Amino acid sequence: MTTVNPGLVRPDGPAKLTGAARYSADHTIGGMLHAALVTATVARGRVAGVDTAEAAAAPGVAAVLTHRDLPRLSPPPVPPLAHSVLAMQDDRVHYEGQPVALVAAATREQAQQAVGLVRVRYADVETATVFGTGDEVIPDGPYNLAEPDLAVGDLDAALAAADVVIRGTYRTADRHHSPIEPSTTLAWWEGDQLTVQDSVQGISAVRLVLAAAFGLPTDHVHVSSPFVGGGFGCKGYVHPHQLLAAAAARVLGRPVQIVLTRAQMFTGCGHQPATRQTVTLGASRDGRLAAVEHTSVNAAARADDYAEFATAGTRWLYATSTLRVRTRIERLDRPQPNPMRAPHEGPGLFAVESAMDELAHELGIDPVTLRLRNEPDTDPVTGEPFSSRPLRQCLQDGARRFGWAARPPQPRSMPEGHDLIGWGMAVATMDTFRFPSSARVRAEADGRVVVEAGTQEIGTGIPGVLTLVAAEVLGVPPGSIDVRFGETSLPEAGMTAGSSATMGVGSAVHAAARELRDKLAVLGSGPPSELLSAAGMASLEAEARWDPAESGAGLSMHTYGAVFAEVKVDADLGVVRMSRCVGVYGAGRIMNPLTARSQMIGGITWGLGQALLEQSVFEPNLGRFLSKNLAGYVIPANADIGDVDVSFVDDHDPHASPLGAKGIGELGAVGVSAAIANAVFHATGIRVRDLPIAIEDLL
Ligand code: MOS
Repeated sequence: MTTVNPGLVRPDGPAKLTGAARYSADHTIGGMLHAALVTATVARGRVAGVDTAEAAAAPGVAAVLTHRDLPRLSPPPVPPLAHSVLAMQDDRVHYEGQPVALVAAATREQAQQAVGLVRVRYADVETATVFGTGDEVIPDGPYNLAEPDLAVGDLDAALAAADVVIRGTYRTADRHHSPIEPSTTLAWWEGDQLTVQDSVQGISAVRLVLAAAFGLPTDHVHVSSPFVGGGFGCKGYVHPHQLLAAAAARVLGRPVQIVLTRAQMFTGCGHQPATRQTVTLGASRDGRLAAVEHTSVNAAARADDYAEFATAGTRWLYATSTLRVRTRIERLDRPQPNPMRAPHEGPGLFAVESAMDELAHELGIDPVTLRLRNEPDTDPVTGEPFSSRPLRQCLQDGARRFGWAARPPQPRSMPEGHDLIGWGMAVATMDTFRFPSSARVRAEADGRVVVEAGTQEIGTGIPGVLTLVAAEVLGVPPGSIDVRFGETSLPEAGMTAGSSATMGVGSAVHAAARELRDKLAVLGSGPPSELLSAAGMASLEAEARWDPAESGAGLSMHTYGAVFAEVKVDADLGVVRMSRCVGVYGAGRIMNPLTARSQMIGGITWGLGQALLEQSVFEPNLGRFLSKNLAGYVIPANADIGDVDVSFVDDHDPHASPLGAKGIGELGAVGVSAAIANAVFHATGIRVRDLPIAIEDLL
């Protein structure tokens, strides 16, 4: 099934490069008002009063709305699509940054200017609780991915009998998604029909939540989101500004657009919560694991329990006869966290793969050898066969590409001038999320083929993937295919989240294209356009739905990778640079090698941010994230990224999808932080268990 596939240059690339691609904030509509949000300056309390007079009199201002002016909305019916506590429905403040008033004006600048003139008085203000001071509780409710606790075998006995026991506590920081494009919503009403021009990862989810909130039939809500300037998870949930734009448009009888400010992206769009994790490994002298224990606690909001399932990947990663994982949260006064690129396994594998490095060092076993020695034949918890698991090959290929065999085992053994060089590695794994999707494929007599699916292009390159799928099935050139997406009027597709789109939407397009091919075959053989012309038909189409429930049951289905990093640590200054990184991945069939490679480079960059740069400090006295800007919250730039070598092993997983493909978008962001931390240990002899690794950790 493997074919040499040179890859397809993004069909959506030229429009993006030339500025022809329109993003949500580029859209305007006659009579539209620009709204700006007034946000709470306290973390917990009540709005005692809002003085709107000065703002209302400011130039261009059409209205200043508070919770008293908005219609009462119904909470979402299908969590976890949105927050169960909606903003501006009453006087309560649940977190700093929560919208408490809204100014609508003729221009965005006038609205923003008037925001500063709104005076909000607060009552019953309480100090925010911060991570580390709350009670550790079992997460409950719809935000949860899996059972919080799992135990296999007698772990305590296995630890008591183990030759070596490693135990460490690891911490990951609060992080923000920080897409280039801030979230933007333009909403307008025509009678009881609501149309929203949004910037989201799931138009169908937005439609469901808005329909529920306003008590409308689903088909009265129309959501459009043609191009999205990055999401990384923050645009996967429905946030307050989306509901507020629609509510304000209803009250004011005019279209209303809200563009979140960069600062509001730090409170109004989710974040990855800090975690505190403990890993205990028990092993024999020859490095065979007998006990794996992993506990994780994360910061959460009060209203909805969000568990960062850092223990997820630990359940299938290594062969062990005993295992115990536990997931807890602390309910705190902060904005609602949500998934952020490589949720769960991203923070979790930092801890597990750091601990594995500590074990390798303790035993004097090469870190790659230690992983190979603990490869399970079947899922260590469920006993299920793996749908595919080419991790061995990822490890072996990665070691070869990196030149790992030349690594001296002892730390501080590769000095180079002022620098200490270190080599570290880690394994990557990610769960396989699959969502049902529908698609339509139409052949036209003029030779064009149109692929239509209500999916989203958030930068991953899905239009190119769908083009290749349809081209392969129909035997037509990719250049003859147009892909339409980002409209709820198109066949419903899953969210662009959980690295799921290629499997879900790709399989739906595959099914629709096959159905169309069968219909065309009835007309004869030859190019679709000739068949249609000969039959006197303008076009012929087929629509199909793919449901993941039809395949993969009873199998342990995940993606894998091996990451090798070289760091240079300035011995005097403690500055860490990643000079090179090798990532080898096994994630099913790779549909478009060009964009797949880009995804993994992006993921490695993302992982470097986690390792060395990204941290949102939650200031306890102010009860807020301290730096709501990209000067105080540092993300990687080109100069931070060394030589990155990405490759994929031959893999084909027919159980994950009929394409043989799995998901890749988040896998690249996993394992990198541990590989870097392990490389820092190899360079310096200093084990940093707290991300991001700071200069002061190394001095
Ligand atoms: Mo992703 S963090 O599932 O958008």
